[in-house]
Amino acid sequence: MKIMSIVGARPQFVKEAIVQHELNKVEGINEIVVHTGQHYDENMSGSFFETLSMRKPDYNLGLSGGSHGKMTGEMLIAVEELMIKESPELVILYGDTNSTLAGALAAAKLKIEVAHIEAGLRQHPKDMPEEINRVLTDRISKYLFVPSEWGMRNLEAEGIREGVHFTGDVMYDIFLKMKPTFDENYHLELGLESGKYIVMTMHRDFNVDDAEILTEILKGVGRIAKEMPIVFTIHPRTKARIEEFKLNSMLKDMIVIPPIDYLKLMGLTQHAYAAITDSGGYQKETYFSGKKALVLMPDTSWIELVNEGINVLVNGDDIYDAFKGLKTGDFKENIYGSGDAAKRIVDIISKNI
Ligand code: UD1
Repeated sequence: MKIMSIVGARPQFVKEAIVQHELNKVEGINEIVVHTGQHYDENMSGSFFETLSMRKPDYNLGLSGGSHGKMTGEMLIAVEELMIKESPELVILYGDTNSTLAGALAAAKLKIEVAHIEAGLRQHPKDMPEEINRVLTDRISKYLFVPSEWGMRNLEAEGIREGVHFTGDVMYDIFLKMKPTFDENYHLELGLESGKYIVMTMHRDFNVDDAEILTEILKGVGRIAKEMPIVFTIHPRTKARIEEFKLNSMLKDMIVIPPIDYLKLMGLTQHAYAAITDSGGYQKETYFSGKKALVLMPDTSWIELVNEGINVLVNGDDIYDAFKGLKTGDFKENIYGSGDAAKRIVDIISKNI
């Protein structure tokens, strides 16, 4: 069976790593990996293939940047050509990026089956690009692999029942697999004391593309930085906006570093006090690490963590108070399965060869 996996953005490399590992174990499966090129900086892309011991992609389309329509459209054209050339029987897609939607559309229109890993998640604002991508991808997928109970309920509420499988979250699998290799000394290289710093990531359009909102967030975070060191691993989009809006001086109390690879970020997180993030993936990886996160979002597709009192949804106005109110405490375990999601997914796929 020929399978085409399509990845393009940072979190997708992490998910593909563990699924690829399981696919390799099955005789008769031939996987082709396509990288759309959406993320291209070495530390947003190449480093993941190395640190997670993945094969280099069979194709790299080099398509990135531009408006969402342009990016998605160019990917659609290019992946369709590849699908026609390679004739896969199944296309595997991850999450909610423009690469996901482009792959799903191209495959569905060629009547190639689509498997969506991380299906069923929903969140506000409904007009955020990721929400549009995931809703549409779910609609045209034959296999919907769902990471959480809440995802199952979302699909049920939308009347999507066929092909739906609860598997748990592949990001938990890879977290467990790679844990012994996390760079547990990285905080020392940054001069930080274990348990006494915060890790921050931020890149969502609704947080960084509006000067007023971004200023409010940096103001709130700046107050926290006066009390506890913040390591801000800065995404290219955020860096560009901060420069464009001339807000660089607001970062003066933070330790600003470029994006870092998976093993460094996870190592840093193991020793952190807590995290500040608007990343879908990272707000769970903090939970896997036994840390709390202040989530810079009006809503989240990982709402269980908020309901369990582990993560807190915040904005620029209330982030400081939320930081002061953080309590350490026991975490409910195994919210996202038992670390065998990739195996379950590959079992289901291979039964249908
Ligand atoms: C994308 C995903 C988001 C995911 C995030 C992870 C969509 C709609 N969103 O958002 O779900 O959480 O990836 O990081 O697909 N850039 C670089 N170098 C790079 C990558 C990007 O300079 O290696 C620049 C791009 O040119 C662009 C900006 O950063 O100007 C944003 O990148 P883009 O891929 O559009 O979306 P993300 O914000 O990264």
